[in-house]
Amino acid sequence: MNEERIERATAYIRELFRDSAGSHDADHTLRVCHNALRLADLEPSCDREIVVLAALLHDVDDHKLFSTENNANARAFLTAEGIPADRIGQICEAVNSVSFSRNRGRRPETLEAQIVQDADRLDAIGAIGIGRAFAFGGEHGRSLEDTIEHFHDKLLLLQDLMNTDAGRKLALSRHAFLEAFLREWEEETHA
Ligand code: ADP
Ligand code: NI
Repeated sequence: MNEERIERATAYIRELFRDSAGSHDADHTLRVCHNALRLADLEPSCDREIVVLAALLHDVDDHKLFSTENNANARAFLTAEGIPADRIGQICEAVNSVSFSRNRGRRPETLEAQIVQDADRLDAIGAIGIGRAFAFGGEHGRSLEDTIEHFHDKLLLLQDLMNTDAGRKLALSRHAFLEAFLREWEEETHA
């Protein structure tokens, strides 16, 4: 995958997310891209270009942040890069199947979308996931205990929802870290 294209995508993402901080910033996207590349290395039959571009563009039309229709922000970048229409279609389809709520928990059909979904989920667990959850809580005026609820409602379930063997493997230590954090929390708050 062309390094300069990744740099242009990074600049595009930094500009789009310039006003976002905390739980959903440009760095989240870059970590998802990095995780997706690690997973792609362990899943050699995937199309790496689709994985990288879908990872980089997975949040640029998120309705929580942008009011675009039909993946307009993703399409604008991909069209300017001269990506063929059928590949743009595949990338947008992958992006659209990543969101859990949008797809009511259905597993994405393509390996590339499964990898990006796993990469996004890895960023919701482990130390970084804990940081993001409390940032989200702060952004939405939630109490610390409400954020701990989110660990039980969602974050602790992610390990078993991983699509790929590679994703499951990388989720193990991050999941264990969440459990250790919750044990310590319990001890400090209910001692
Ligand atoms: P994405 O769009 O990246 O799939 P979300 O927008 O659902 O994810 O969440 C972004 C981040 O905020 C994640 O790290 C997630 O764990 C966290 N988050 C979402 N909902 C809550 C909540 N109710 N309490 C605490 N953290 C949350
Ligand atoms: Ni995301």
